[in-house]
Amino acid sequence: MHTGQLLGSGRTADVYALDGSWVLRRYRDPADTTRELAVMAYVGAFGFPVPRIGTPAEGARPTDLVLQRLSGPTMAEALLAGSLDAAGAAALLARLLRELHAIPPRVSTDPEDCVLHLDLRPENVMLTDRGPVVADWSTAAEGPPGLDRAMSALTLARTALDPEFPAGAEVRALLRALLAELDEEGGASLTDLTLARTRQQKSPYLSARERGCLRGAVDLVIGCAPRR
Ligand SMILES: Nc1ncnc2c1ncn2[C@@H]1O[C@H](COP(=O)(O)OP(=O)(O)O)[C@@H](O)[C@H]1O
Ligand SMILES: [Mg+2]
Repeated sequence: MHTGQLLGSGRTADVYALDGSWVLRRYRDPADTTRELAVMAYVGAFGFPVPRIGTPAEGARPTDLVLQRLSGPTMAEALLAGSLDAAGAAALLARLLRELHAIPPRVSTDPEDCVLHLDLRPENVMLTDRGPVVADWSTAAEGPPGLDRAMSALTLARTALDPEFPAGAEVRALLRALLAELDEEGGASLTDLTLARTRQQKSPYLSARERGCLRGAVDLVIGCAPRR
């Protein structure tokens, strides 16, 4: 199958242009995408901003996704370029988490559960002309909303502590602003942070250096939370 220009790469997938409207999202290690597609279609039907889902062409790998082509920077790129500040990014991430968690669960019968993205961070939000769109639903699950908030906060804290990452102070400012935004709905509790840390510890996509930042990251989230 013909793949066009490489538009972006994350830890698990490469995204290629197919034409002006569609991209091919191809896992480097093929994974089952059935659940990922089902969650995207489900939250999209509630009006949550996700890329539209297309039909794979003949010859596509069973795990290839065809998705609406989005143009615009990721939130991470906009932050690094200075076109978005920490306060704006924090408000946007908090709003996306809040709106996602207002959707009833798709599968779970526990009324406390909701759909969780579990990797809602600036690299996975694209800022298009028509508003932000959330990409990368490979880790989506259902459970308590606090776990999603803790995963986002822990990822930012881990990045802020990573000696190889150039903008640690800016990420720390974003973390502080995000925790202030999320305070009303409970922020990131120690219980949820502990669960989030265990998940990230087990992730095959983190380097040993990044895993080494996790313990300090929990403390940093707690230290950056608004005083009660
Ligand atoms: N629908 C899309 N249209 C255009 N670019 C995209 C689209 N989805 C993702 N990208 C780009 O590809 C990158 C990697 O995609 P992502 O789904 O986050 O994969 P990974 O799981 O590897 O992080 C994103 O950070 C973004 O730059
Ligand atoms: Mg990604």
